[in-house]
Formats: sequence, C-alpha cells, structure tokens
Amino acid sequence: MSERPVPVSVLGLGPMGRAVAGAFLDAGHPTTVWNRTAARQEPLVARGAAGAATAADAVAASPLVVACLLDDEAVHAVLDPVDFGRERTLVSLTSSSPAQARERAAWARGRDLAYVAGTIMTPTPSIGGPSALVLYSGPERTYRAHAPALASLGGTATYLGEDPGRAAAYDMALLDVFWHTVMGLVHGLALARAEGIAGGALAPYAETMFGLFPEMARRFARQLDEGVHPGERSTITSAATGVGHLVATAEADGLDAGTLTAAHALLRRAEEAGYGADGLSRLAAMLG
Ligand SMILES: NC(=O)c1ccc[n+]([C@@H]2O[C@H](COP(=O)([O-])OP(=O)(O)OC[C@H]3O[C@@H](n4cnc5c(N)ncnc54)[C@H](OP(=O)(O)O)[C@@H]3O)[C@@H](O)[C@H]2O)c1
Repeated sequence: MSERPVPVSVLGLGPMGRAVAGAFLDAGHPTTVWNRTAARQEPLVARGAAGAATAADAVAASPLVVACLLDDEAVHAVLDPVDFGRERTLVSLTSSSPAQARERAAWARGRDLAYVAGTIMTPTPSIGGPSALVLYSGPERTYRAHAPALASLGGTATYLGEDPGRAAAYDMALLDVFWHTVMGLVHGLALARAEGIAGGALAPYAETMFGLFPEMARRFARQLDEGVHPGERSTITSAATGVGHLVATAEADGLDAGTLTAAHALLRRAEEAGYGADGLSRLAAMLG
C-alpha cells in the first residue's frame, strides 16, 4: 500500500532552501514555502508550491516543518515567536554548532515539539539526486517517522543517534577537513601565480595531490583509532623540514603565510615532544 506524500513546509529559501523545497515538490509532497524576503517564494509557487504570508502560516500548513536558514540565530528569529501547536515536527537543516543543536532540542522539548537536527553535507545541485548526503540525529522514533518524506532529498540519509548534537559534530569535523583543504587549494594557486605559473598549468597536478587523500583518510583514521603512528612512509621531521621550505617560499613571494606558519609550529612542537620519527597521524592525537 503506497502512502500519500505528507505535506511539508520549508522555511528559508536561500540556495539550499530552494533546492530542498524543489526536491519535496518533485517527490509529490504538497509543499508550502516561506521566506523573509517574500519574492524568493515566487519561482517555487510557479512550480506548484503554496506561498505562506508568515512563518506561522507555513507552520500551520504542514505536519512536517523544515527550517533551512542561514544559522541558528536566524532560526531563533523566525521560530521563537511561532506557536507550533500540536502534531508538528521540526527538522532543522540549518548548519549549527553541536552546542546550538542541543540547545535547539531543549528549546523544542520545552514546547512539546518533536525535533530532529539535520545537516546537509553536499552542494545544492546534489539535492534530490543520488549524490546527496544528509546527516540526522535526535529522537529515533521521530526521525524514522519522517524518514520516508526526508528521502525526497535523495542520496544517502544517515541517522547518527539520539544526541541532537551528533549530526552537527560530524558536520563540524567534516567542515574542518573541507575548509582546511579549500585554504590549501587557494594558497597553492596564489603561490603558483606568484611564481609565474598559471592556475590552469597547476590544476592537473593539484588533482593528483587530491587523489592521495581518500587512502590517506582511511589510513590516518585507522592509526588514530588504534593509537599507532608508524613513520615508515614519511615522518614528522621530514614534513617539518618541507613545510619550513614552503613558509620561506611563501614569505619570499610576499604571500600571507599564516596558515603555514601555524602548521610549521605544530610540526616543530611534535618534534620537540619526541615524535619526529612518527607518521603524520600522530598530529591528530597531539591536537586532542
Ligand atoms: N548552499 C549550500 O551549498 C549548502 C550546503 C550545505 C549546507 N548548507 C546549509 O544550508 C543552510 C541554508 O543555506 P543556503 O545556501 O540556503 O543560504 P544561506 O545564505 O545560508 O541562508 C539564507 C536564508 O536564511 C534567511 N535568513 C538569514 N537571516 C535571517 C533572519 N535573521 N531572519 C529570517 N531569515 C533569515 C535568508 O532569508 P532572505 O532571503 O530574506 O535573506 C535565506 O532564506 C545553511 O545553514 C547552510 O550552511 C548550504
């Protein structure tokens, strides 16, 4: 027996909120949309969504309410004044810190409101397609009850447990990886440019470097979990020397070398602590 798609309201129509609302529409959910700047509702209304005049009207329209706003402060601003009444579930797909996600769960409990914390890990074009990745945590029964509707977002939905801060904790750790990597990419491109190398000339080699990471991620993670940091492939002393050359080059090229000097200082601290012959996964253990 097939169930009728549950009505859903989406609050927040930035690039991701629009993608989320569009995915619910595509999956046949009666979808109500609301956005602070009302004009952003129009393209979704043209696709069949109902436009709500206020956030309270959007909450009243559907049992499942999805908030996809800039940050937790925006969620406060939009939802604090709203009376959710009974029989509503709020799923926040708004990035926040783990502490904010736990506070939001306590806020929801205080209002007798069922709440699931979610975080979207993939970009807008992935939403509704096979490559989407969305992480959830919070009360399992609530999550399971709404998992069929949330499946409209596509790809992989992963439930990470009852702690409402758990999904945000994964989000923060993965964004830590992501932003350090982005900073490495832009810094490398800037250094190449300062050395007279065009971005297009460097890019294929940068791709080779990125190709090293999947295996490295699995190996470092295993070594960290097992508490062993073998240096047979490369050592902290070798990395400290290499990063030292990099700092000198960046500074000579007139670039801001702040992220590199921080990395160099960490490697030197590891050496001073007697870990010079260890592999680089030792640094993850040292930072904690
Ligand atoms: N875009 C991505 O690729 C991506 C990927 C993964 C996760 N996410 C997460 O998804 C969430 C939404 O992102 P987004 O890309 O859609 O856009 P965004 O720029 O992060 O958020 C824009 C939305 O927040 C609203 N907003 C901001 N401050 C507000 C306030 N004080 N009161 C009411 N509404 C407020 C905006 O309303 P107005 O239109 O009126 O300004 C708009 O609807 C974020 O938490 C983001 O981290 C985004």
